Amino acid sequence: SVWDHAELPAGYRLDFREVTGSTNDDIRAAAQTGARAGLVIVAERQEAGRGRRGAAWVCPPGEGLAFSVLLRPSEPKALWPRLSLAAGLAVAEGLDRHGVSAEVKWPNDVWIGGKKIAGILVEAGDDFVVVGIGINVGVTAFPDALESSATSLALECGEAPGLPPVLASILERLPVWQSKIGKDFDELLRNFRERCALTGKTVRLTCADGIVTGNAVGIGDGGELLIRTADGVRRIVQAEEVRVVE
Ligand code: BTN
Repeated sequence: SVWDHAELPAGYRLDFREVTGSTNDDIRAAAQTGARAGLVIVAERQEAGRGRRGAAWVCPPGEGLAFSVLLRPSEPKALWPRLSLAAGLAVAEGLDRHGVSAEVKWPNDVWIGGKKIAGILVEAGDDFVVVGIGINVGVTAFPDALESSATSLALECGEAPGLPPVLASILERLPVWQSKIGKDFDELLRNFRERCALTGKTVRLTCADGIVTGNAVGIGDGGELLIRTADGVRRIVQAEEVRVVE
């Protein structure tokens, strides 16, 4: 397979699986039996790939890059939610190396030209974090329901790069941003704000106290989304669905 001689940046170990349920579940199981940080599981096909909000993540084998990475952050657990932003930046920068201009869609999707190219699912355990990433690489046709909202490297670049180089570029950037969830969070925020796909857009989101519609005015100092609504600016720390409305 293309993974037989794949080269990863220093500090990572690759475990390739032709078929699995979900690479996030596989990393969690490995973490619970003592695997060290830097383990990467890539699957050609996931039979139970998961997205946020319990959605399924489905991608035709060979056309998508689906992988999960095991982290054991030394930062306090209260800072771990920032890893979503860190992972988004790593994916966006990794994709840019392949000739695109990727944006981060708070909290952790990656977009190109307003369309989703990658999704990220971060899950924490007691003493580890699983960062799961799914990227549309070679996809040239999406199901009808996704057609207007999804894109791929193949569509954006004309020709899809190989999966291992895409994985390697993202893994190279991940530790850079992971290391900035603590005292250098300002720098992470600066970069996230520059790439933020939502700023200036009207958005509608579902959060703890219902549906909020307003103008996204930026990202606050804690990484929260700032929305100007009829009754002032609201700080959204966590949201289910975030949509741009026309
Ligand atoms: C989302 O868009 O809601 C997040 C999608 C995350 C999908 C990736 S694919 C690799 C890893 N394994 C999973 O089951 N999910 C993530």
